[in-house]
Amino acid sequence: MDTTDLILAIVHHLLVFSLAGIIGAEFVLIRGDLPATTIRRLAGIDRHYGAIAMLIIIIGIGRVVYGLRGWEFYVHNWVFWAKMIAFGIVGLLSIQPTMRFISWNRQARANPSFLVPASELASVKTFIRAEAAVFLLIPIFAAAMARGYGI
Ligand code: HEM
Repeated sequence: MDTTDLILAIVHHLLVFSLAGIIGAEFVLIRGDLPATTIRRLAGIDRHYGAIAMLIIIIGIGRVVYGLRGWEFYVHNWVFWAKMIAFGIVGLLSIQPTMRFISWNRQARANPSFLVPASELASVKTFIRAEAAVFLLIPIFAAAMARGYGI
């Protein structure tokens, strides 16, 4: 029994489910019209993204260093690196939607009749869908890695 590993695993799971919740909420909210209240909600939800992603990195590194298997298991495991690359791509894909949400929120506050331009909405939808699709790969890699694949 290793309490440190257990606590890191629990926190890791809670954080990754929170991130999945944020991506899922954005995925759904972006589908309809975007009145000012929805824009504000999107910007509010998205504000938590960076903090949660940062905590996942810290706890994830904690699992690599203090987990049961030892860091050597992971640094030589290509499935681990595939998971890291997928996580990095998700982060990169989230930048454009974040910039748009901030900009739309600012414009909606200044002008109550502000309408999100259709072309901007379409591109944000594409980024969020791509983000959700790549995110799905992460637990697949995680499950394989945890069972010794990739060495
Ligand atoms: C810097 C980012 C991350 C690092 C360093 C990291 C690291 C780790 C480590 C070391 C384990 C333990 C695997 C084992 O038992 O040998 C693990 C498990 C896991 N990770 Fe991550 N992780 C990261 C991000 C994520 C993200 C974003 C997700 C989102 C889905 C995720 C989902 C999981 C899952 C579901 C498991 C449990 C796998 C299982 O036991 O079947 N991880 N992670």
